[in-house]
Amino acid sequence: MEFLTAYQELLAQSLSAPNAAKTPQGLYAPIDYLLSLGGKRLRPLLVLMACEAFGEDPKKAVNAAKAVELFHNFTLMHDDIMDHALLRRGQQTVHEKWDVNTGILSGDAMLVQAYACLNEYPSELFKALTQLLSKTALEVCEGQQFDVDFEIQTNVHITAYLEMIRLKTAVLVGCAMEMGALIGGAAADEAKQLYRFGEQLGIAFQLQDDYLDTFGDAATFGKRIGGDIAENKKTILVHLTHAHGTLEQQQELTHWFSDTPKDDSTKITAVTELFKAAKADKATLAEVARYTKNAFDVLDGIPLKTVYMQRFKDFGNWLMKRSK
Ligand code: IPE
Ligand code: IPE
Ligand code: MG
Ligand code: MG
Ligand code: MG
Repeated sequence: MEFLTAYQELLAQSLSAPNAAKTPQGLYAPIDYLLSLGGKRLRPLLVLMACEAFGEDPKKAVNAAKAVELFHNFTLMHDDIMDHALLRRGQQTVHEKWDVNTGILSGDAMLVQAYACLNEYPSELFKALTQLLSKTALEVCEGQQFDVDFEIQTNVHITAYLEMIRLKTAVLVGCAMEMGALIGGAAADEAKQLYRFGEQLGIAFQLQDDYLDTFGDAATFGKRIGGDIAENKKTILVHLTHAHGTLEQQQELTHWFSDTPKDDSTKITAVTELFKAAKADKATLAEVARYTKNAFDVLDGIPLKTVYMQRFKDFGNWLMKRSK
């Protein structure tokens, strides 16, 4: 996908050490640290792609792309505190490298900086973008709360799970698409359709994240393998083990998830084996493909030039094959 290179360069400029000269560094250094670890930057790439797909110079969308990536990194900084995660992008998480208070306040500052990026847009566009980000941001918080609530609930329905991942992850992917489309001059209904494409793709993306959290390769994934099991997360793997496993496998899973041992390696190994025995790993990948297909069906209904349509599909297919 060589079309991504130009976008990546635009983003690299605007996201490289944006706070280098600011004080106090205790507040700003952790922000630049997390940004310097990179990540896939898929959300800002989608902002730029969507803008260009509607006929505008992607440079016009750089500030919105930056806003979305800063917002995403803010959620990661706080998510890692909430999930007791020690690793992010293959390096120490901010609250591990500094402390929890740093993670909270630097995260807050990043959220404010995200909004400030939108100040550059003319007033009507500014209003539309800000409203969209505010709606999305609150939904992400709702999703994060459900995710944490579900850790101690034993009977989470798959419908509730799907709504939780829609909120915590998919709406931001939709938001990225819609922002880009609006800056690109799309009509409101076309921008909304692109949002729906992003939302379905975002659900597929989170299902895949759940899969990789157990079955990914530690060397490339950049997060601790088994972290979700350790935290009793009711991921898609848990739901599909309950749906397809034997009664014995289901009971065993419930047993492991009723405890949070300090040394969790035995638990992680046992639960991983249970997921495999119930074929929840393969079933999850099938669900990833199904939601990606849903996303492409939505995309097919949007009157985009073939070249941009194809770029979005290449991007979606690339996401499905990712290992990080
Ligand atoms: C991680 O997002 C959080 C989820 C929604 C699963 P990414 O997998 O996009 O993280 P980076 O930005 O590439 O590190
Ligand atoms: C991420 O969910 C959602 C947000 C950060 C809003 P996860 O907790 O699964 O993300 P990772 O796996 O830590 O990146
Ligand atoms: Mg997490
Ligand atoms: Mg989380
Ligand atoms: Mg995860």
